[in-house]
Amino acid sequence: MERIRIRHSLSLAACLAVVVSLLLPAALHSQTAAPAAPSLLLGAAWYPEQWPESRWEADLTLMQQAGIHMVRVGEFAWSRMEPAEGQYDLDWLDRAVTLAARHGIYTVLGTPSAAPPAWLTQKYPETLRMEENGRRAEHGNRQQFDFANAKYRELARKIAEQMAKRFGHNPNVLGWQIDNEYAEESYGADDKAQFQQWLQARYATLDNLNERWTTAYWSQTYSSWDQIPIETRYGNPGLLLSWKRFVSDTWRSYQKNQLEVIRANSDSRQFITTNMMGWFDGFDHYTVSQDLDFAAWDDYVGQGHLDPARNGAAHDLTRGFKRKNFWVMETQPGFVNWAPVNNSLDKGEVRAMAWHDVGHGADTVSYWQWRSALNGQEEYHGTLVGADGTPVPLYSEIAQIGKEFAKAGPALADTAPKSEVAILHSYDSRWAINWQRHNKSYDPVEEIISYYKPLRAVSQSIDVIAPTAPLNQYKLVVAPGLNVLSDEAAKNLIEYVRQGGHLVLGQRSGMKNDDNGLQPERQPGPLVDLLGGRVEQYYALVDPVPVEGKWGSSESKLWAELLSANDKDKDSGVEVLERYGKSNGWLDGQPAVITRKVGKGRITYVGVWLDDAGMAAAAKWMTEVSGVKPALGPVPDGVDVYPRYGQREAVYILVNFSHAAQTVSLPSSMQDVLEGGSKHSVTLPVYGVAILSAGR
Ligand code: GAL
Repeated sequence: MERIRIRHSLSLAACLAVVVSLLLPAALHSQTAAPAAPSLLLGAAWYPEQWPESRWEADLTLMQQAGIHMVRVGEFAWSRMEPAEGQYDLDWLDRAVTLAARHGIYTVLGTPSAAPPAWLTQKYPETLRMEENGRRAEHGNRQQFDFANAKYRELARKIAEQMAKRFGHNPNVLGWQIDNEYAEESYGADDKAQFQQWLQARYATLDNLNERWTTAYWSQTYSSWDQIPIETRYGNPGLLLSWKRFVSDTWRSYQKNQLEVIRANSDSRQFITTNMMGWFDGFDHYTVSQDLDFAAWDDYVGQGHLDPARNGAAHDLTRGFKRKNFWVMETQPGFVNWAPVNNSLDKGEVRAMAWHDVGHGADTVSYWQWRSALNGQEEYHGTLVGADGTPVPLYSEIAQIGKEFAKAGPALADTAPKSEVAILHSYDSRWAINWQRHNKSYDPVEEIISYYKPLRAVSQSIDVIAPTAPLNQYKLVVAPGLNVLSDEAAKNLIEYVRQGGHLVLGQRSGMKNDDNGLQPERQPGPLVDLLGGRVEQYYALVDPVPVEGKWGSSESKLWAELLSANDKDKDSGVEVLERYGKSNGWLDGQPAVITRKVGKGRITYVGVWLDDAGMAAAAKWMTEVSGVKPALGPVPDGVDVYPRYGQREAVYILVNFSHAAQTVSLPSSMQDVLEGGSKHSVTLPVYGVAILSAGR
């Protein structure tokens, strides 16, 4: 019934939109009331341009039957929208949007700039990006454009403007995705000139740049801006970091170029986002997210199965870009086509993953893709219907998700995760470590996850945020590998501890300044005084070294930091929590973890990368000493809890990722959102899901 009502009101809205668009000027147009979209959206990437129009109705009917309420359309359809320069054809897209609306399906429009047409790159070859080896990209794939090229931006802006003028007031268009997965940099002469200008704006004088990069080293001193090269791997650390910051700013301005023209021509209710890629570090996502309404990402497992902690951390990372709920703009319908082995997720796993997404704060889960093009690079990718246009086996699971989203949507409307624990994440630090790993196995994302996993198991909710984000809501803030520590971030952290928070710094933290140069105080740089101790020496490890203390006996792998503690002075309050056992002589018996109470706050430095048992003990101590409580209460191993809070209600999503059925007893009686009734406990089969709500 509910769905039929939505459908009718939508088709009416669609008709109205057409009439209004013919009769009214744009200013009045923007006042057209938008029908409210479901709060939880199930979606699919749909490519109507790849099919005869006569097929659309059948596709949309199948989508509607699966409870799909959103299609993302258009992001690779430039050659259909502008078959020759300046000849725009958006009528087909309008018909697709209108037909989708008749099936209760809203559209998200992708601007097509990730795939320029052949006429464009033929006519303007300078728009093709230059690879690092000096070779120009060619037509025949996608992302062949130069992100800094003025002509390309002009043409991309024009098509975005045409789209916005046509659809910016269409009530069936929910919002916009700009481009698709920003990734490819360009290294041509013009890119380099722009980089040099960017450096000039940042450093003002060459003397300043030379000093901050210590270019006296290896005779790198620059006497003219145009001498400065692009380096991406082995260059001066200041140069490397500057290039990445330039790339981030360039993606931001690339995005702004389209975003501004869309904003100028659309209703404010239409959102603007882009689809990012989890841990991908090609640019600083905090920089690029600034201008978006919310963040979105493409969540693919690839080979193997969902690792809820690792994937969950990527969700929380994405939520942290704007510190609000986000969208899963693409996810795999069973399997992909680009992993070494493209195995399928198990029966039930796709549904479990969808609820895991929502639990972490996704308000939309959208599958890529509805149906494979009959030719093209992705023929083998998982879909929801087959080459013949009829449902594949997974379709019924998607339809189940559709039903459940409709049922749970109202309870989850206006709810979001909220955490007592934050993990700090910085691109500067990840880049800096990756350029000079010192131990080839030292992966900064793995380091983050080694904290995330046990901390999440205890607290059941974690925010992953930038080191300059507001911290006052957190009882515990953990900074694994915060290698580059800007003055602004240091101030934020010091203030946090002074206000009564508990800051935990992990290995390699506070080593570098904002130019990727060494902090002269040694680690943790500007936080040495607050800590009452410092890192005397770091050691890359071939074999793990033993560690003992308050967290039991454990081992540090890959890396060990010899700490000094100003604990001779009894008033300093520095406590040694862990010491190294017998290892390389230098470390033997020396402090490995120290902590210090500062007023009501606390600062802890962890110089070790502990094994799983050690990290679990560490997480237990950190949360206990900071007063962090689990969001719901104890649950069996392998059951994930995801709290989302509204004004008056808390909703807990439970998913069983273990290999056996599990029973969870609830701390109080709760409403079972999917099954109805009030429950004191729930039993979840493998990949089972329960959604429970309770007053706050
Ligand atoms: C994404 C991309 C999609 C599709 C998908 C396949 O990275 O945005 O267009 O290629 O991968 O997994």
